[in-house]
Amino acid sequence: MLNTLAPQPPDALLALIKQFEADDRSDKIDLGVGVYRTGEGDTPVFDAIKKAEHRLHEEQTSKAYLGPEGDMGFVNALMPYLFGKDATRGGRISGMQTPGGTGAVRLALALAQKAGVTRVHLGLPSWPNHAQILKDLGLETVGFDHASADGSADLDAVLAAIRGAQAGDAVLLHACCHNPTGIDYTDEQWDQIAAALADSEALPLIDIAYQGLGRGMEEDAYGMRAVLAAVPEALIAQSCDKNFGVYRDRVGAFYAMAEQGSQIDAIMSNAAALARANWSMPPDHGGATVRIILRDDELTGLWLDELETMRARLNEVRAKLAEAGTAGSVDLSPIGKQSGLFSVLPLAKSQIETLRDEHAIYMAGSGRINVAGLHMGNIDKFVQALASVTS
Ligand code: LMR
Repeated sequence: MLNTLAPQPPDALLALIKQFEADDRSDKIDLGVGVYRTGEGDTPVFDAIKKAEHRLHEEQTSKAYLGPEGDMGFVNALMPYLFGKDATRGGRISGMQTPGGTGAVRLALALAQKAGVTRVHLGLPSWPNHAQILKDLGLETVGFDHASADGSADLDAVLAAIRGAQAGDAVLLHACCHNPTGIDYTDEQWDQIAAALADSEALPLIDIAYQGLGRGMEEDAYGMRAVLAAVPEALIAQSCDKNFGVYRDRVGAFYAMAEQGSQIDAIMSNAAALARANWSMPPDHGGATVRIILRDDELTGLWLDELETMRARLNEVRAKLAEAGTAGSVDLSPIGKQSGLFSVLPLAKSQIETLRDEHAIYMAGSGRINVAGLHMGNIDKFVQALASVTS
């Protein structure tokens, strides 16, 4: 029976990690998978995480099962950062831990499907795994253009998608640091999106995987909070992979907001049943570590400082790229107005291949670059290579 399975290509983005590692050119540049890098090209463990891990090592007395909801201390400690004051919205919001942001997206979509959602409106391009999860669940994807030709968000397209959505539809939105374009809605645009969602029967699903890497922890939550204030119910998929740098530990959380506080337990019992059938319970270590940080003022301060350093470096690289103006036919100036790790360059497949083969510069096949892969020591080489393949 198993011999009927056709071979599948490896995930294109994750395959880049191995291709890059196998390249022995010393001046290679990795602009592929979305991990933060320092100016020296490293992805170190945060000091706050190291300190919390030491404490976890000393304090943890058991590794017995916790249950499908994982570490609720972690889940609850994140809530003020995500949802602000009155983080439970009077008892209407509750959550559970998931294996990374992917687990949270998967759980949110599976729960939406169980509640009757059959179609999901998704701004394109999007993180490729969104479409894969939707396909795997058998949900129909209805795409709309996320960005206009001038490099700003296409507000008309998202408003039209929301206005055209019906009961049984969900709308999946990136809260900040859009993956892959780096093009976010402004606060004013979020207000309009929230108002449109308030008039719609569609269920909002907000994916917040890069909080703190754009404008700041509070600022990056503006849009999500505007939506939550306007609508009766919503689902939220959160990831700590980037803002705590715990990528391989798989640390995320799923939250639901119910119309009435009396409904939230029933909703979360369905989420718990889906989690049990999928992964039973999430891995503990990373969530426990984040909980230790968030319950300690000194470690929280250290973490927020480290996050600010990351954000400042990303903005510095963006400013430097924008300053370069153009590289061959590529206008780099919009990169200065975008946020987070990513931007998309208008490159043909053959140009992306030439950059890899002749210049040892690795990026996703969509032309997405992770700007964190650039630093003051390699940015000029990158701009020159880009100019040479597009002139
Ligand atoms: C990315 O988009 O590069 C990251 O979110 C990693 C992943 O899982 O795709």
